[in-house]
Amino acid sequence: MRHFLKLQDIDTDTALTILRTAHEWKSRAPSDVSSLCRGFGLAMVFHNPSTRTRLSFDLAMQQMGGMTVTMDGGSSQMGRGETLDDTIRVLNGYVDVVMVRCPSQEDLDEVVRVATVPMINGLTDKCHPCQVMADMMTLQKRFSSLKDMPIAWVGDFNNVTRSWMWASRYEGCQLRIGCPSSLRPDDAFVNEVRAAGGHVTFYDNARDAVDGAYAVMTDTWKSMNTKDAPQRTKLLRDFAVTKDLMALAHKDGVFLHCLPATRGDEVSDEVIDGEQSLVWQCSTNRLHVQKAILAWCLNLISPEAGHQ
Ligand code: CP
Repeated sequence: MRHFLKLQDIDTDTALTILRTAHEWKSRAPSDVSSLCRGFGLAMVFHNPSTRTRLSFDLAMQQMGGMTVTMDGGSSQMGRGETLDDTIRVLNGYVDVVMVRCPSQEDLDEVVRVATVPMINGLTDKCHPCQVMADMMTLQKRFSSLKDMPIAWVGDFNNVTRSWMWASRYEGCQLRIGCPSSLRPDDAFVNEVRAAGGHVTFYDNARDAVDGAYAVMTDTWKSMNTKDAPQRTKLLRDFAVTKDLMALAHKDGVFLHCLPATRGDEVSDEVIDGEQSLVWQCSTNRLHVQKAILAWCLNLISPEAGHQ
């Protein structure tokens, strides 16, 4: 069973195969894959709101000839307390793959035990693997290879940052994380990533993290389950991505943000709308990466055989 739940479970060959497929399909006519998923159904379960994840998975599956259904608490019995476990047991009989966005990675890790079809993580408190694959696709397109390249993450340490830590092992980029020391993950997690081949260095100021970096990434300071928002905002003010901070990056450096952005907090208008920003290209790449992830989960591509 090919679940796509956490990047620590996705080996380098698989990740690079998914990325190669996404690039290839993006460059080809959409009709080339328009019947690849004919007869397959995707259910999307949202416990939290979404724009990009919802649109990109829905359209990816439909553009490959498959069917989609979306569920949330407001329009299903989950809103009256039906458990995620029981919902997945029902979906097992209806669809071929399930994407879930839920607040707790622990809950997702538990519910996968009752799944008899592949499951995809559409974001939890700890991971956002599909977003990071789109980030990587965007950077690969701009720089070809990320090997040994300094890539900076500044601001909050959140689910996207965690997934980026695991992703740093795929092509050997040097991930530099600039965040308040009080928001850093525990040493055990950092050591686990490093032992698996991740290249991660922490900085307690944004300027050192960004110095010479080929990419500068950030995210909202109000991620899912964020507590003490005013206190965190105060701490994070020094990590805002401004034009002055971007000036410290490599001359070819680019800016990424997974969106939605809170303009004026973690990023200024002139950066997100500026020439270095690849934010909208990255958002578009969610669609292409989602196609490749769905195809991998459905056993339609594999590292050994490529596109079957
Ligand atoms: N980046 C991202 O996951 O966007 P949504 O929350 O809108 O899906």
